[in-house]
Amino acid sequence: MKFDKIRTFIKSLSILPKASSKEINAKNFYGKDDSDIPGYTSDHIIFCDGLVKIYKSKDTEVVALQGLELEIKKGEMMAIIGNSGSGKSTLMNLIGGLDSPSAGTLIVDGKNLLRMKKPELLRYKKEKVGFVWQNNARNLIPYLPAIHNVEIPMILAGRKDAKKRAAELLEIMGLKERMNNRLSQLSGGEQQRVAIAIAMANNPKILLADEPTGAVDTATATIIYNIFRKLNKEYGITIIIVTHDRAVAKNVDRVVTIVDGRTGSEYIRKNSYKEQIMELDRMSGVEESETHEEMIVVDRQGRPKIPEEYLELAKIPNNSKVRLKMKDDTIVIYSRDKDDE
Ligand SMILES: Nc1ncnc2c1ncn2[C@@H]1O[C@H](COP(=O)(O)OP(=O)(O)OP(=O)(O)O)[C@@H](O)[C@H]1O
Ligand SMILES: [Mg+2]
Repeated sequence: MKFDKIRTFIKSLSILPKASSKEINAKNFYGKDDSDIPGYTSDHIIFCDGLVKIYKSKDTEVVALQGLELEIKKGEMMAIIGNSGSGKSTLMNLIGGLDSPSAGTLIVDGKNLLRMKKPELLRYKKEKVGFVWQNNARNLIPYLPAIHNVEIPMILAGRKDAKKRAAELLEIMGLKERMNNRLSQLSGGEQQRVAIAIAMANNPKILLADEPTGAVDTATATIIYNIFRKLNKEYGITIIIVTHDRAVAKNVDRVVTIVDGRTGSEYIRKNSYKEQIMELDRMSGVEESETHEEMIVVDRQGRPKIPEEYLELAKIPNNSKVRLKMKDDTIVIYSRDKDDE
């Protein structure tokens, strides 16, 4: 089938959510305002509090997220790292509206996803978030040229300038010369860049990338991270990268760890991205510890998340009582067995 026929066919499908124009124009289409939630501010693009996801089947129950807390500011480029099974993809699917939370608060761009109805959620998925997966075959059609692959989501959204914008996006991805090649004629790394163009097609505010460099070599991964950085800096898109590769820290400003469905320590970049580039130019490789500083998160109830190794060194068993002492403006935590000095 020629692409013109495919285009006509797609246009004839009534895929858009059935909402009246009055509903679509309504200010609060995505649900009520959540500005009254403690800790939440208008600077947050994502705000999770006590987020729980339980997968239930006939005889098993998996608690994939166990009261997760996470705050992401507008325009951040950050990463979430964690071992296999820690709940990273679960969190991405919830933020992307592909799955629904079991309990808690999940506010994205001012609206609580737990309160969204189906048509609102459909529109949310289409307008607010773009997805990039490790396995890009999930949103690509191999026998169509790259440019048509990028056009499709825009045609679905009813955009008139689909072809022009698809070409522009592929140019940003460095694929100007390859845009008329079929997907099957492109390398894995080039296909991944087409997948990023697709994710960007409908101007999302947030780009969710789940193991985006898991199937490419280091040089291609660098190209992909540079594209992410460009999209983040030039278009202000919030980018969240999920991976179990700790080396991702070199490419983002903040890394949040996730362990058994809960967030743990955070690593914040010590120097600016510009300084980092200069540093990278000088050295062949930079250790994570040289660029990022580990931060212990004090949660909204005032609980610090103290790493296991610190507790072991201080001989403080888990689930025990400790003593606190103020020394000037410093808080000292010590075992109750230790004599008060
Ligand atoms: N649809 C599902 N039904 C049942 N259990 C699920 C489902 N999806 C995920 N899980 C379980 O939830 C937990 C978290 O899975 P998740 O896919 O979020 O992990 P992950 O951190 O992305 O791991 P990986 O690095 O391997 O991709 C795992 O124990 C997994 O088996
Ligand atoms: Mg995963």
